Amino acid sequence: MEDVKEEIKSRLPVEDVVGQYIELKRAGRNLKGRSPWGVDKTPSFMVSPDKNIWHDFSANKGGDIFTFIMEVEGISFREALEKLAAQAGVELKKYSKSDEEQAKRKVRAKEINELACKFYQVAMTKNKAAIDYIFYKRNLNRATAKDFRIGYSPSSGAALTEFLKKKGYTIREMRDAGVLTQYDRDLFRGRMMVPFIDTSGAVIGFTARILDKGEPKYLNTPETFLFNKSRYIFGFYQAKEAIRQEGFIVIVEGNMDVISSHQAGVKQAVATSGTAMTEYQLKALSRLSNDIRLAYDGDDAGIKATERAINLAGGIGVNLSVISDYHGAKDPDELIQKSPELWKEAVSNFRPAVDWLLDKYEEKLDITSGQGKREYSDVAMRLISYLKDPVEKKHYAKKVAKILDVSVEDLLAKNVSEISRVRRLKTVKNGDFSANDTRVLQGIEDDLLAIMIYGGEAGAKIQLEVPEDEMKLDELSVIFETRYKDWETSALRKEAKDLWTRREEELRRVKVAELSQELEEYEDKDDEASLDKQKEILREISKLKKVEKKS
Ligand code: UTP
Ligand code: MN
Repeated sequence: MEDVKEEIKSRLPVEDVVGQYIELKRAGRNLKGRSPWGVDKTPSFMVSPDKNIWHDFSANKGGDIFTFIMEVEGISFREALEKLAAQAGVELKKYSKSDEEQAKRKVRAKEINELACKFYQVAMTKNKAAIDYIFYKRNLNRATAKDFRIGYSPSSGAALTEFLKKKGYTIREMRDAGVLTQYDRDLFRGRMMVPFIDTSGAVIGFTARILDKGEPKYLNTPETFLFNKSRYIFGFYQAKEAIRQEGFIVIVEGNMDVISSHQAGVKQAVATSGTAMTEYQLKALSRLSNDIRLAYDGDDAGIKATERAINLAGGIGVNLSVISDYHGAKDPDELIQKSPELWKEAVSNFRPAVDWLLDKYEEKLDITSGQGKREYSDVAMRLISYLKDPVEKKHYAKKVAKILDVSVEDLLAKNVSEISRVRRLKTVKNGDFSANDTRVLQGIEDDLLAIMIYGGEAGAKIQLEVPEDEMKLDELSVIFETRYKDWETSALRKEAKDLWTRREEELRRVKVAELSQELEEYEDKDDEASLDKQKEILREISKLKKVEKKS
């Protein structure tokens, strides 16, 4: 395994791999560019050809070509390995017999999905009802239908199954691919077929819309080992380039909204199966850009989904905003049918998601009454608790206080009960609550290690474990060279001291977040032991918070 990795690395210089994504300019022995995660104001992305590594100073990430591809494409190590192996012309051996078996099944399932896609594309050209629906009713043009590989599934019930059998595929392989009903007949019949395309361009499933009316409106591929609904982002493959160029992402509710939007020239649109966006998806998107604009409906489901997204975003560090002016249309597709220009205009007419949501709450609740004020302040404070940035928090607390005509102190007094105060620290259950905390911590520790290892006597006092990984050591040397090379010993010492203090603060924050999560596990229990445990955790949290206030 290590051999293969090294072989690939020796064939693909880091500057070539990174250079496919960002423009690099020479800066001494290194190369410099803009962060692909769009978080830098000046170029902060470094590549060291000598050491064959990269480091992003604004996002506190770094590594080799494999980690770069994983981060920038939002894919797993295995997928990155496969992608780079193909580029380098290196053949991968499978780990073990069962892996090999599994990999073969995956290959067959992909072949089936690809063949099915082609089959549906051909069937579409022969079916008048499908042509009418796709090109006239939905107003798609030929180029769009081709880009999104739109097709039609014949209604006979076994057309695809028969076709695949002739091609030598077994029923079991078709089941793996997710194209069969429980009776082993064609799952999709008489529907417009839209393939799910993965990050490498492979077809991994379908969403199928009934022509005109009927139930269910959409039928989707079930979970298979190719398709995972909570991770899949519709349109990602077609949108990636435009997102990188334009620097922002538009998230819409429906897959057809994505397709219409691309046709209208807004090719940064993607969808996450309806409004159920997951942390995994938001993270994958945030690797491409942190300017994310939601184009959900303004109904209750849209409001809920927006609040959920704000909660998720707090832990990931993206700027969320809302596109909401549809000129009376029910969704982006309908607006585009009226006028593509209006959609383009809407996309550049966005508001911060928190402001938008506060307005919605204000509209819904009667804030002239006492009860309305209480309800409004409840939801508003909950919203503010999702935000991580203290300046941003303060800004919104002031805004809410003003709306309610109370002082900021009164507003804050309302919500200081320990439990609600710590609850804000969690983002979502099972998500890594500290994604942001550990990222900051990582940056501080990298700087400290760089000074400790390469800073001579200035680093003598720092007591951190030296990493054994050679790549990490190389990365630290790039950090040192870039940041601290010409610093005097005394300045370095002071920097180390400041960093150390900040590290302790960060460690406390992570600890508090961990304790809060632990607290939550006891929340629904009210036996004596659990209550005692809750009190103990709360005491510990308030101790940590006191230290925080003093420092
Ligand atoms: P909508 O009902 O708003 O559909 O569902 P839409 O995108 O506007 O569809 P058109 O324009 O009538 O064709 C939004 C999303 O919810 C999922 C689909 O992903 C859809 O795009 N959905 C909806 C289903 O998966 N199944 C359904 O039966 C309905
Ligand atoms: Mn629609």
